[in-house]
Amino acid sequence: MNENEIVISVKDLVKVYPAATHLLGDGGKEKLAVDRISFDIHRGEIFGMLGPNGAGKTTTIKMLSTLLIPTSGTATVLGMDPSKDSMKLRSRINLVSGGERGLYFRLTGRQNLDFFSDMYQVPREKKKKRVQDLLDLVGLTDSADIRVENYSRGMKQRLHLARGLVNEPEVLFLDEPTLGLDPEIARETRALIKKLSREGMTIMLTTHYMFEADELCDRLAIISNGVIKGIGSPYSMKDAVRNDTIIEVEAGEITQSQKEQMKALPGVSAVSLESLEGRMMARMVVMDAATLIPTVASLLEGQRIISIKVDQPTLEDAYLKMVSDK
Ligand SMILES: Nc1ncnc2c1ncn2[C@@H]1O[C@H](COP(=O)(O)OP(=O)(O)OP(=O)(O)O)[C@@H](O)[C@H]1O
Ligand SMILES: [Mg+2]
Repeated sequence: MNENEIVISVKDLVKVYPAATHLLGDGGKEKLAVDRISFDIHRGEIFGMLGPNGAGKTTTIKMLSTLLIPTSGTATVLGMDPSKDSMKLRSRINLVSGGERGLYFRLTGRQNLDFFSDMYQVPREKKKKRVQDLLDLVGLTDSADIRVENYSRGMKQRLHLARGLVNEPEVLFLDEPTLGLDPEIARETRALIKKLSREGMTIMLTTHYMFEADELCDRLAIISNGVIKGIGSPYSMKDAVRNDTIIEVEAGEITQSQKEQMKALPGVSAVSLESLEGRMMARMVVMDAATLIPTVASLLEGQRIISIKVDQPTLEDAYLKMVSDK
């Protein structure tokens, strides 16, 4: 395996969704969902796209996996253009997007995998073994002959993953692979993704979870409003906050407008607000905590301040800073 080989190359990729003229309000305007993004992914790498709702993650994955035609820019996957060589490319890649769609609920897990193997023209003599191997891989052997309608959510998600592997793809796209899974199954799914990567598969995934990106990805891109805000190893992402400090304030109440006021203070690059049991906590990414603390305290006057602490920034704070509009 040549780890320097570039398997996915994206340059100035743009997707504008056309205005939906039959809709009122926002639906009547065109939407710039992906705004000139560029990156390369190497063979065997796990590359993540991390970003808030509506950032453009699914749109990007759809363009690379031949499901959506880009508005402009270039994309190359395994040396092919997903919008032109889609049929040829599809035999060598696969996409798993979670949820309820894409499986046949009246069929058993094994029958589903049989069906999808036929779609990918897996030779008859190989099919039986491949389907069994995949059932073993995702831990569904014992439930292989039960109808999918009786599967739990986690079982369906694992079957989705197995389905994504029937054609032994060189590149696997995973759109939120652990969405809605309980912590145990999510952990098993991440372990499986790592295993596939170790065996040489190139994997591009999206996630909402910083810790997941941190645990899984060799490199990640942080995307917000269609724009890549940062790209690199999870470790290098911390550079964004290397010179920052965190002020963590707990008070009986902190309003949205107080949060906005905090964000507007000089030297503050991001503020997150979390509601805890009977109290609120604001986490501020700041340049100089010492000079800001009195200002923050007076801003919250009358709000029963419980504590004000200074903390070291985490990867989560780097993410917050990068996707913050300030
Ligand atoms: N078919 C469509 N027509 C018009 N706008 C769309 C369409 N699909 C997505 N969008 C818009 O494009 C933007 C990016 O959407 P996308 O689904 O790529 O985001 P995402 O990062 O995957 O979000 P999430 O984390 O919620 O899955 C959003 O503003 C979304 O509303
Ligand atoms: Mg999405």
